[in-house]
Amino acid sequence: MTNPWEEISLDDYEKHMSLDTVRQLQAMNSIMQEQFAAYPVETAAVLGIAGGNGLEHIDTDKYRRVYGVDINADYLRAASQRYTQLSGVLECLHIDLINEAEKLPQAQLLIANLLIEYIGYGAFQRAVLQTAPRYVSCVIQINSDEEQWVSESPYLRAFDRLDEVHHQMEEKALTAAMVEIGYSLILQESYPLPNGKALVRLDYQKKGEKVINLGDCDNCKHRFGFKKGHTLCDAFPDGVPYEHTEKDVKSLKECNNGISYETKEINEEQYLLCDDTAEHWLITHANECAEFEEMLKRIKSQKGFKRKDKS
Ligand SMILES: C[S@@+](CC[C@H](N)C(=O)[O-])C[C@H]1O[C@@H](n2cnc3c(N)ncnc32)[C@H](O)[C@@H]1O
Repeated sequence: MTNPWEEISLDDYEKHMSLDTVRQLQAMNSIMQEQFAAYPVETAAVLGIAGGNGLEHIDTDKYRRVYGVDINADYLRAASQRYTQLSGVLECLHIDLINEAEKLPQAQLLIANLLIEYIGYGAFQRAVLQTAPRYVSCVIQINSDEEQWVSESPYLRAFDRLDEVHHQMEEKALTAAMVEIGYSLILQESYPLPNGKALVRLDYQKKGEKVINLGDCDNCKHRFGFKKGHTLCDAFPDGVPYEHTEKDVKSLKECNNGISYETKEINEEQYLLCDDTAEHWLITHANECAEFEEMLKRIKSQKGFKRKDKS
């Protein structure tokens, strides 16, 4: 028996998701932008990728490999065709996550949006264990009406068989399943939808991983840039290894090459202009408050604005 998702056309799925009464395609797109930017990683696996909504936010300077996984081969073909600019980075894999999790490659970040409801907690745990990510970021849908979990729409008939594979999601149960396999909750955010439903983003970090403290390096006078997910500095001109950023950098006698942490003394404006990390941070957070938005506008409009990266 085929999985119902193999019979749903991408056109029906995307038209349904972008209806004004649903608006999930738009919401998922901005959530994915945040997910791709959130952690210092260079590889990611996106499970249940569908037609690749949100993949335009993959920064190819940061990511060297992103796997897109789905059970529907037509969706994967569409995703590859839509994002030719990601060739060499995006690799689409046709995998049934319920029965073939062992085919998954390893990746540092695992993204699974609106997928766990169709494979269940157990299959998701197996997928996470196989991928062995440092971070997991997923979105689940919380339904106020558990009977009517697909929103009303002219495309509803296309989703008739989804009941066969659908599991009702619950934040606490997902977190318990993740704790069971060694992951702790590090972020929880709710996004209300127009029809009384809500999307909840839950991020987890592998236990035993120390929080990566990019903050200290950001304030060091030896730092001169950021490239492919790594801070660049005089001690590590090719990029600070992630293991190093897990240390208490300020207390080390030496980071590398006889160079140690020294606080940079510049004002905020100079700091924001010094490289593209700050600009990138502002871009990804600009919608959070008017002040950031203003700051970004001001910086971009400054005459002669030039990045000072040595790279
Ligand atoms: C509700 S859609 C979510 C798509 C996308 N992540 C988004 O947020 O718009 C679920 C996706 O998971 C895929 N999927 C469902 N069951 C699967 C399975 N057993 N193995 C792999 N992919 C599956 C579907 O084909 C579909 O693309």
